[in-house]
Amino acid sequence: MCGIVGYIGSKKAYPILIKGLKRLEYRGYDSAGVAMISDSGDLNVYKAKGKVDNLTDYCNDKDVSGCVGIAHTRWATHGEPSARNAHPHYSSTHNLAIIHNGIIENYADIKTQLQAKGVEFKSDTDTEVLVQLVEYIMVKKNLPLVEAVQVALHQVIGAYAIAIIDKRDPRQIIAARKQSPLVVGIGKDEFFLGSDASPIIDYTDKVVYLEDGNIAVIRLGEELKVISILGEEQELKVKTVDIDLGQIEKGGYEHFMLKEIFEQPECLMNCMRGRINVEGNHVTLSAMIDYRQQLLGAKRIVIVACGTSWHAGLIGKQLFESLCRIPCEVEYASEFRYRNPVVTKDDVVIAISQSGETADTLAAIQLAKEQGAFIFGICNAIGSSIPRATNTGTYIHVGPEIGVASTKAFTGQVTVLSMLALCLAAERKTISEDLYKQMVKELTQIPDKMVQALKTNEQIEHLAPIFTYAKNCLYLGRGYNYPLALEGALKLKEISYIHAEGYPAAEMKHGPIALIDSEMPVFVIATRDRLYEKVISNIQEVRARGGRVTALVTEGDTQIQKFADHVITLPDTLECFQPLIASIPLQLLAYHIAVCKGKDVDRPRNLAKSVTVE
Ligand code: F6R
Repeated sequence: MCGIVGYIGSKKAYPILIKGLKRLEYRGYDSAGVAMISDSGDLNVYKAKGKVDNLTDYCNDKDVSGCVGIAHTRWATHGEPSARNAHPHYSSTHNLAIIHNGIIENYADIKTQLQAKGVEFKSDTDTEVLVQLVEYIMVKKNLPLVEAVQVALHQVIGAYAIAIIDKRDPRQIIAARKQSPLVVGIGKDEFFLGSDASPIIDYTDKVVYLEDGNIAVIRLGEELKVISILGEEQELKVKTVDIDLGQIEKGGYEHFMLKEIFEQPECLMNCMRGRINVEGNHVTLSAMIDYRQQLLGAKRIVIVACGTSWHAGLIGKQLFESLCRIPCEVEYASEFRYRNPVVTKDDVVIAISQSGETADTLAAIQLAKEQGAFIFGICNAIGSSIPRATNTGTYIHVGPEIGVASTKAFTGQVTVLSMLALCLAAERKTISEDLYKQMVKELTQIPDKMVQALKTNEQIEHLAPIFTYAKNCLYLGRGYNYPLALEGALKLKEISYIHAEGYPAAEMKHGPIALIDSEMPVFVIATRDRLYEKVISNIQEVRARGGRVTALVTEGDTQIQKFADHVITLPDTLECFQPLIASIPLQLLAYHIAVCKGKDVDRPRNLAKSVTVE
């Protein structure tokens, strides 16, 4: 996590750095800091606990002059969130300043060695160890900064994206990455740095995504140079980024999350564009053409993901098994990577990740690759680490997701999983032609049905205050709606801080039913499908114990209102696509409850958008 920004050129660095930090605040907001070489040649470091606004308040009366600087927004790993542990960190002499995203795993050993040599530390962070090590090497071996960074990076174990400036050489920034993202923007006589392209795109669309193990030597007046840790010059792969600035601003909505919920119909159209034909009866994924043999050869599919992406994976499992008749397992990437799983070359491993940077998912990919599996990625962030680590994949193309709670990425992931399952089922002939066509057609109708589902917003806004005093909530669903119950509960937990559980509705009587009383809201996804009657029985079980039921039902439903306290009506669709529609009221419910509780919806406490540490 943590966000990195850098600038060197002829403009004032401070406004560029602050604007960039605000764009990256989704990566963490425990503290923020900036280091700039001032017009008079001082290396000034300013930092503040909490959000970027605290930093700007702090800097109000400070010297923020200078045309070179680095800045950081932190999600704490080593050392409590505080100004002391905030980045940038100075070296002992205050000649160098560093920012870092990642974890230096052997920092304690290096720190002990440096302390034994008399180096004094000011913070508890692993990051300070790195800058002290670089300085120690510069002095001891009389090396220039870039070579000292090379030597230091040889000694550290862990993940990093770093940027370092040296007040004795204000025309240079050195940046490096291993397993944490870093992008260099190339302008006219100026350069930018970012953890992703969002802090850069106001100024240039020419970027270089730094590769693992590489160092960027950014010098004013010279071309960008990329070298390996060993000092070998690397080919410069300049890409053009295509992110619309409007896409990452709030567009009139109060929060990014609300904007992103409302964007979903359009996002899904973008996701299907060029993949489903205009007649709406055929799906093609380019990965399916290029890697047909590998994908059709799958004896088993293993899905690895975390959080919301894992919930999308649970829906994928049902699609792959019922439509394609391929056995499928869904694994938490963080568990999979450490439990010596059986993976073979006959497996296709699908890694799902919005950010494309989740450390556990990346490690799970690595493990599966080593065991010969074919890796397929389903990601949103273009050019991020996961798509680059996979054999092939499909982007969900829903645009940047800024709200920390994932919304449009979830429905984009489920849409790509649906398209992939349909492609595989058609090729494997495990689906009849009629059903295939019906399903493809229905998928193209989902954006319109989402528009209808979004009309529940007003009703949900009115309902939300009823639930703000709840301490616990239960979400129930069956079949395709069970992963959605998990997702609904996760949304509520993460932004309103109300404890919530998602359960398969029939499992409730094996334990959680004991929790039910009139104080606990129960949300039931009770759309009309194969298990509808059974879900009605589950609702009655809740009612019989005094539970308060809010049910999501299909339009035309007359039965459930007899038992439910509140009913939210949704358009009908095929059972397997129901989560695409029903996720909308659940997202809105979590959103409005959190807003009623006065919570910071887009930046919930303790969370970060991109989890690049394990
Ligand atoms: C929840 C949420 C997280 C992410 C998880 C994986 O709203 O956003 O649970 O889904 O951290 O992130 P990605 O998909 O970027 O790998």
